[in-house]
Amino acid sequence: MGLLIKNAVIVNADKIWEKPQDILCIDGKISQIASGIAAGTHEVIDAAGKKVLPGLIDIHTHLRQPGREDKETIETGSRAAVKGGFTSIMCMPNTNPVIDNAMVVEFITREAQRVGLCNVYPIGAITKGQQDGELTDMAELKAAGCLAFSDDGKSVLNSRLFRLAMEYAKMLDVLIIEHCQDPLLTAGGVMNEGIVSTRIGLKGDPGIAETVTVARDIEIAHYLNARVHLAHMSLKRSCELIRFAKTQGIKVTAEACPHHFVLTDEVCSSFDTSTKVNPPLRSKEDVEAIKKAIADGTIDCIVTDHAPHTKEDKEVGFDGAPFGLIGLETSLGLTVTELVKPGIIDLPKMVDKMSRAPARIVGLANKGEIKQGHDADITIIDPDKEWTVTQEGFVSKSKNSPFIGRRLKAQVEYTICGGKVVYKA
Ligand code: DOR
Ligand code: ZN
Repeated sequence: MGLLIKNAVIVNADKIWEKPQDILCIDGKISQIASGIAAGTHEVIDAAGKKVLPGLIDIHTHLRQPGREDKETIETGSRAAVKGGFTSIMCMPNTNPVIDNAMVVEFITREAQRVGLCNVYPIGAITKGQQDGELTDMAELKAAGCLAFSDDGKSVLNSRLFRLAMEYAKMLDVLIIEHCQDPLLTAGGVMNEGIVSTRIGLKGDPGIAETVTVARDIEIAHYLNARVHLAHMSLKRSCELIRFAKTQGIKVTAEACPHHFVLTDEVCSSFDTSTKVNPPLRSKEDVEAIKKAIADGTIDCIVTDHAPHTKEDKEVGFDGAPFGLIGLETSLGLTVTELVKPGIIDLPKMVDKMSRAPARIVGLANKGEIKQGHDADITIIDPDKEWTVTQEGFVSKSKNSPFIGRRLKAQVEYTICGGKVVYKA
C-alpha cells in the first residue's frame, strides 16, 4: 500500500503543471505521475485547490542538541521543520560538543531517524571546536555523512586555514559554507551600524565586517577554482560582489534569510531582543537589494537560520542577549507574503530557492523536484490561506520570533517525507 495524492497541481522549479495529476508514492519514492490513477488500497489525499511542491529544504538550521536541549532538540526542531513544510534540514555544528567528529554526526543522524519526521543532515565543523586553529578530519566527517562544512556562528578568520579547508573540500567534493563576519571589525556590535544604532545608542556592527569576508572568500574561490557558499547575506554591497563574481565564472553560491528581506534595523529600536541576530538586520536599501538579488539569481537560495533561544536567555538587555531568531515555521509564509504575492518572484522560482537550488548546492540527488523516481518528499500548500503568527502556535521549543502578531499568506496543509504524512494542518 502506498500514498496517492489526487488532483495535484504540481509546482516544480521549471514549471507549474496546469492540468492536475495524481502522484503515487510507493516505498518512499514517487513511482508514478499520471491522471486517473486508481485508488486501490492506497491511502488517498485530495489536493484539489492546493499547490503541490517538492518538499522544502533548509540548508541552514540550528538544532541545539547536543548541549542545549532546553532551547531545541532534534525532535522539537524536526516537528517545527515539518510544520513549516520542510522535509530536509541541515543542522549547523555549533552544538556542545561541536559537530567536529564522526560520533556526534552519528548521534544526530540516529536520533533524527528515531524521531522519523524529516531528513536531518549534520553539517561538520571546518575547525576543531570551531576554534579557528586546526582543521577537522573532513574525510572522516564526510564518511559519517557530512555533505557540507561550516564554522557558522563565526567566520574562519585565519585565511590560510580557510584556503586549506577549501582545498580539502574541493578534493572531497563537499561544500564549504562560510559565515561572513570579521569579528575584529564587528568589535562587539549588537545591531547594524547606522543611523538607528546611533539614535538609540546601541553599539553598531559595520557592514564591512561582512563584505571584507565575502570579498576574501570570493578571491580564494577564484584562486583555487573551488566552490564556496556564503551564508545569510544581508547587504546590498555583498550582493554586488557576488553578482560580479558570478559574471567572472567564480564558483560562488549564496543564501538569504526571510528576516533580511522583510525587516530593517528600524525594528531594533523596540529593543525587542528577538530582533537581535547575526548578521544584523540592515537598512531599507539593503532589504530591497536582497529581494532584487533573489529575483535575479545572485542569491541562489532562501534559508531560515533557525536559531532557537530560551525566554530566559533572551529576556535580558539587548546588549547581553544571544543572537538569533527562529524561522522554520514562518519561512514559507514570509516568502509567499513578501516575495510571491507582490510579484517579485513567482511560485516556481520560490520552489527553486527553497527546494531545487538547496538540493543542487549540497548535492542531494533525488530531491528538489517532483519527478518519477525521486524521493517522495512533498509539501502541499494553500498559498492564499491567511494565518496569524502566534507564540502558542509555534511547536519549536523556543519562541524567539520578531514576527509574532503578523498576518501571513500560505498555509502548509500536508508535509510528506519519504512517502509518509509527517504533518497535517
Ligand atoms: O543570529 C545568529 N544565531 N547567527 C548565527 O550565525 C548563529 C546563530 C545561533 O547559533 O544562535
Ligand atoms: Zn546560522
